[in-house]
This record gives sequence, structure tokens and C-alpha cells, in this order.
Amino acid sequence: MYLESIWRDILVYCSADRLAYSQSQKWGFFMKTAVVTGAAQGVGLATAALLAQQGYRVWLTDLQAIDQAVKQLRASGADAHGLQGDVSSEDFVKEFAATVQVTHGAADVLVNNAGISLIAPAEQTTLQQWQRVMSVNLQGPFLLCKYFGLQMLEKRSGSIVNVASVAGLRGVIHRSAYNASKHGLIGLTRTLAGEWGGRGIRVNAVCPGWIKTDMDIADQGSGAYSDTDIINRVPMARFARAEDVASAIAFLADSERNGFINGVTLPVDGGWTGDASWDSLRTKTR
Ligand SMILES: NC(=O)c1ccc[n+]([C@@H]2O[C@H](COP(=O)([O-])OP(=O)(O)OC[C@H]3O[C@@H](n4cnc5c(N)ncnc54)[C@H](O)[C@@H]3O)[C@@H](O)[C@H]2O)c1
Repeated sequence: MYLESIWRDILVYCSADRLAYSQSQKWGFFMKTAVVTGAAQGVGLATAALLAQQGYRVWLTDLQAIDQAVKQLRASGADAHGLQGDVSSEDFVKEFAATVQVTHGAADVLVNNAGISLIAPAEQTTLQQWQRVMSVNLQGPFLLCKYFGLQMLEKRSGSIVNVASVAGLRGVIHRSAYNASKHGLIGLTRTLAGEWGGRGIRVNAVCPGWIKTDMDIADQGSGAYSDTDIINRVPMARFARAEDVASAIAFLADSERNGFINGVTLPVDGGWTGDASWDSLRTKTR
């Protein structure tokens, strides 16, 4: 590990730009390992693909079968691996963290992306629904931070990016459990940034606006909102793309270039949270 870090420093020092460093990662020995949850589709898969393209070895996990996503990334030349499981299960997260560590050493990057949505009036939200949303969206990231964080703390370096939401920064009607989970995730992010920053671990969050993924399609299927509702609300007049979010995650994950960014909650929302205008005023400017 010591020799590896010296070589990495020399390569970074000698290279005029990022290219030489990312090429060096492709030698395998120098490769950094990134773990992405909820990576079978949507933002998770786009993030794993981008990180692989940037020279990371990627470990994907999801509740759904992950083989297809791993195969797809390998076909494009990635060093990709997968393990199927539930992020809310402590047994699974422990096994996953141990598998990655035994195979490739401690993870360098953890992206807590797995999440589920719930649209329901608060007074009709059952305890079971509330608990499931909290288990996946908040308990899961806590467990992953804990078990991958232990590996990172041991080598005193690492970067964690949590995928929250604008719903972690603002209230949104009929999403009490989801919003509370994402507000909680931001609280966890800020707390760990403080607790672990002095030991070389950065912890940040991205807060996307509405993204055109299966989650949005399922939510819209319930009749809760339309494309026009979102487009009218966003200053940039469109949905986020999974790639927009992946690119912000990769930016925060990159400790070589962005190693002093810690404890931030970065909106990736086309201006949503910055704009308090009403829709007719906003749409008049287009
Ligand atoms: N789609 C949006 O509009 C939007 C907006 C803001 C934030 N987000 C957040 O972005 C993240 C990714 O969402 P997406 O839009 O790609 O949705 P998605 O539904 O396409 O992907 C989520 C993935 O998480 C996996 N998953 C769900 N529960 C899991 C569990 N218990 N263990 C492991 N994996 C599990 C799913 O199988 C799925 O592959 C989520 O955290 C979501 O809350 C989404």
C-alpha cells in the first residue's frame, strides 16, 4: 500500500494533466475502487459507468439482479464487479464490505445512491411504509458509511457521496417519509464530514431535482404530477438527466482534484432551490 501511494504521488506530480494519472489507474495495481449502490439502473448505473470511464474499478450492488449491468460495463472495458443485496440489511452490508476489501483492498469511493420513493398524504402513510423508506434511504447509507468507513478510516483516506434530493433541502407535499429520509441523509452527511474529515475521509451529498428515471415514471404513473409541472418549476426548463447527477457525484468523489470539499450538499436541480418565483412569472421569461 505504501509503495502504491508513493508511485501514485510520483505519477500525479509528473503528469501535466489528469490523463497520465487515469491511464496509470488502468494498470490495475494503481486502480482506485468505487462502490455504487442501487446501480442496476438509473443514476446508479450512470454513475458506475462514468466512474469506470474515469479509471476506477467499480463495485455495483442492487436489490435487483446486477449481472446485466456488470456485463454492460465490462463490455465497454470496465473493471466491474457486482453483488446483489438489500442495503438496509446489516448482514448484507457487512458481507459486501468484506468482499470488496478481501478482493481489492479498502474502497476509495462510496456512492450511496440506492433509494425508494413514496408519495402519500402523511395521514395515510402507514408505519410500515414509513419504516421501509427510512430503512432503505437512511439506514442503508448509515450502514454502508459505517462498514466502508471503517476501511477508509484505517487507511485515512476516502470519499463518500450520498444521493439526497431537493426533497432533502425543501418540503414537498405528500412525501413526508421520503423527505424526512433525505433530510436525515443530509444530516448524516454533515455529521460524518465533521467526524471523519480530520482522518482523511470526505463526506458530501448531491441533491438532484426531478430526474427522468424509472422512479419518476412510477411516481408519475400514480398521477401525482406531470412533466409540465416539473418543467415549469425548473428555471432551466427540463428534467435532470441521470448523467447530470453522475457527473456531479464524480466531481465530489475525486479526491485528487476536489480534496478540500467536505460536508457540502450540492443541488443538481437546474436552479430549482435557488428560485422562489411563481410558475407564471418564471415561464414568462422563456
Ligand atoms: N428520480 C428522481 O426524480 C430523483 C430525484 C432526486 C433524488 N433521487 C434519488 O436518486 C437515487 C437514484 O434514483 P433513480 O432515480 O436512479 O431511481 P431508480 O428507481 O431508477 O433506481 C434506484 C435503484 O435503487 C435500487 N434499490 C431500491 N431499494 C434498494 C435496496 N433496499 N437495496 C439495494 N438497492 C435498492 C433499485 O432496485 C434501483 O435499481 C435515489 O436515492 C433517489 O431517491 C431521484
